[in-house]
Amino acid sequence: MTIRAEQPADYDSIYLVVKNAFETAEQSDGNEHNLVNSLRQSNAFIPELSLVCEINGQIVGHIMFTKLQISGHTGLALAPLSVLPQYQRQGIGTSLILEGHKIAQTLGYSYSVVLGSEKYYPRIGYLPAETFDIRPCFEVPGKNFMAYKLYENAPLISGIVKYAEEFGIT
Ligand SMILES: CC(C)(COP(=O)(O)OP(=O)(O)OC[C@H]1O[C@@H](n2cnc3c(N)ncnc32)[C@H](O)[C@@H]1OP(=O)(O)O)[C@@H](O)C(=O)NCCC(=O)NCCS
Repeated sequence: MTIRAEQPADYDSIYLVVKNAFETAEQSDGNEHNLVNSLRQSNAFIPELSLVCEINGQIVGHIMFTKLQISGHTGLALAPLSVLPQYQRQGIGTSLILEGHKIAQTLGYSYSVVLGSEKYYPRIGYLPAETFDIRPCFEVPGKNFMAYKLYENAPLISGIVKYAEEFGIT
């Protein structure tokens, strides 16, 4: 298994991986594959943090972290995360997140924020974002809005998150 930054030649495969992964997802708006393409064109895009997982030359997973604002501080939004159905439950999603965290740390980001399953992300250390006084800009159960502190001495940044406008969250 290889995890590496995406390249332009991967864009079509990534589109299909994201589409395919979310077709059977518990939560989906059916648009995640298009969201990836729009985020790539946005100011929130971080090329080093759009990663693919490759097995025998085939892209089987993808993760994107983009910039989000918290009280004037730049954090990260983890979204979307996709693993092809036939490759799920083999640790690929976890490996993509952990590699993303490592790169994010070297780039100096302090928090990653995710909206997702309370059964999945806490296994990797995500806590309800309210633990850090990071708050959503929409109605969501607290357990599904989570954050991860990327380094020990990260400053406390209280505030409401502002996603890239491509997410369509106002
Ligand atoms: C969610 C997803 C990325 C997980 O990737 P993965 O490579 O299968 O995950 P891992 O192998 O690293 O972790 C597997 C563990 O996570 C948990 N898990 C996996 N998918 C889960 C889900 N959809 N909800 C809750 N827990 C989940 C299980 O506990 C599993 O452990 P187990 O096999 O011992 O029961 C993948 O299922 C996927 O692409 N789903 C469709 C798209 C999606 O929902 N993305 C997340 C949006 S927040």
